Amino acid sequence: MNSLGPARILPLRLPRVCVAISGTDANEMTDKAESLVRDNPLLEFRLDYLRQPSAGVARVRRFAGFHPEAILIGTCRRAVNGGKFRGNVKAQLDILLKAADAGCQLVDIEIQSAEQLRHSDFEKLRGRVGIVLSFHDFKATKNLEATFRRMLAFPADYYKVVSTANTLADNVEMMKFLQNQSQRHSMIGLCMGEQGIVSRVLGLRAGSVFTYGAANPGEETAPGQVTARTLRDTYRVEQIDQATRVYAVVGDPIAHSLSPLIMNTAFRRESVNAVCIALHAKKIDDLMTCVEEIPIHGLAVTMPYKTEILKYLENTDPLTAKVGACNTVVRAQDGNLFGFNTDIAGVIRPLDQRLSLPGAKVLVLGAGGAGKAAVFGLKERGAEVYVMNRTAAKGQKLARRAHARVIKRKDLKKASFDLIINATPVGMGNGKQSILSEPEINARYVMDMVYEPVETRLLKLAKDRGAHTITGLEMFTNQAARQFEIWTGKPAPIIEMQSAITNALAAAAAEAARNGTGKAKKKKSRR
Ligand code: ATR
Repeated sequence: MNSLGPARILPLRLPRVCVAISGTDANEMTDKAESLVRDNPLLEFRLDYLRQPSAGVARVRRFAGFHPEAILIGTCRRAVNGGKFRGNVKAQLDILLKAADAGCQLVDIEIQSAEQLRHSDFEKLRGRVGIVLSFHDFKATKNLEATFRRMLAFPADYYKVVSTANTLADNVEMMKFLQNQSQRHSMIGLCMGEQGIVSRVLGLRAGSVFTYGAANPGEETAPGQVTARTLRDTYRVEQIDQATRVYAVVGDPIAHSLSPLIMNTAFRRESVNAVCIALHAKKIDDLMTCVEEIPIHGLAVTMPYKTEILKYLENTDPLTAKVGACNTVVRAQDGNLFGFNTDIAGVIRPLDQRLSLPGAKVLVLGAGGAGKAAVFGLKERGAEVYVMNRTAAKGQKLARRAHARVIKRKDLKKASFDLIINATPVGMGNGKQSILSEPEINARYVMDMVYEPVETRLLKLAKDRGAHTITGLEMFTNQAARQFEIWTGKPAPIIEMQSAITNALAAAAAEAARNGTGKAKKKKSRR
């Protein structure tokens, strides 16, 4: 036995994130490990990805020698079990034994391989190295308890159960299973797939010892894996415990939402033991199952559920009811759900800092959810509101309901306003379009709800006309700040929230420029 073998003792508490490292070439794999190990001491070498797994072990030995602080898992998953290794079980055992000798403290072996090995061979492996006994279901989340009973036939240091989530409720299954078994066993559990992303964060709260993260975007070793950096920096998984409250931003689509970043930034800054996750809800019933069962303490609701959510709520504030759209849900002490519309505060707060709204003449462009929030919010504050919408009838209906007025496009050049607000998505993404032409912008202030790009074409034109401009970023930050206040009852750290979003948008724009697209990724929703 090599001196670096099982003598390398595992720490009492493992890091919460294990970075899975793949690569077809052993040098590439260990070079990646070198660049990662400082921030990520728990690393998994996916030896099955190598062209020659057993030759790669020599590189692992060197790496382990240089990095006694690292905790290394050797994995050589067979192709029949979802990996890339084409050899038989005996050959797999041979590589795992070599990985142990090379300095891995743990090896991952599938239950199917363990069942095929001779008892004495499994015992030999166990005598040399810690065992992560794993099971993967690449299709569904089912029979977790029965599968686990099968696994318990083998003594192991960690039992790893990985399934595939087809619904959000599948994550709940996984969490219940983890909660149940982690009392007696050292468990690792998560759901793969885009619907399972939430389990990679909340599984830890339910008792998973650690979870897996990708080294970099595009280097995922399993469907739905997110980067180790996102797990740590955005979701703060090292701090998650059973008392951590769960909040979620929900919508369809949701992948590019900035809400988890802005809300988790606020939680961190204010030392709130909470996490905000993104839930891609394809059906609202599936979402509501999670809200009840996890349980979720608050929701940030985006398209297309801002209206549909209303029927699940115990009550809403009067303005939210008038607008007919809710973007913020909070769970009260008694478990009942209450709804608010913080898009209204998102519009009103930045305006209050600049002008007096009672009596102000305001033009709102658009009559969708965002337009409605602006119109009702401004009317409530005593502004004189005009609505203009592409589909005139919809604009008229909103104006009638809110006791506002309508204005026709042809009259715009002659009209002047204290404030114009763009509540349509026009201008989003490429920065070339403007909902109004320059002669139509006759206002002291112009606000755009679009925040990507931050300076839209409309705002550029408005500046040229001498108007003061208010970006969509301010609205987004203010609606999130109000959301934070409703969720936590604390004042929101708005400066930190805004700079987190500014930095993220700048990084996305730089990334887009590097990729030669010259524009940030288009989003369906502005929020
Ligand atoms: P949100 O909830 O973000 O407000 P929405 O409910 O889909 O989104 O509303 C979008 C608003 O932008 C609508 O007022 C829409 O006008 P229509 O009622 O005519 O659909 C307006 N809008 C969308 N695209 C537009 C475009 N290219 N030009 C002008 N208005 C547009």
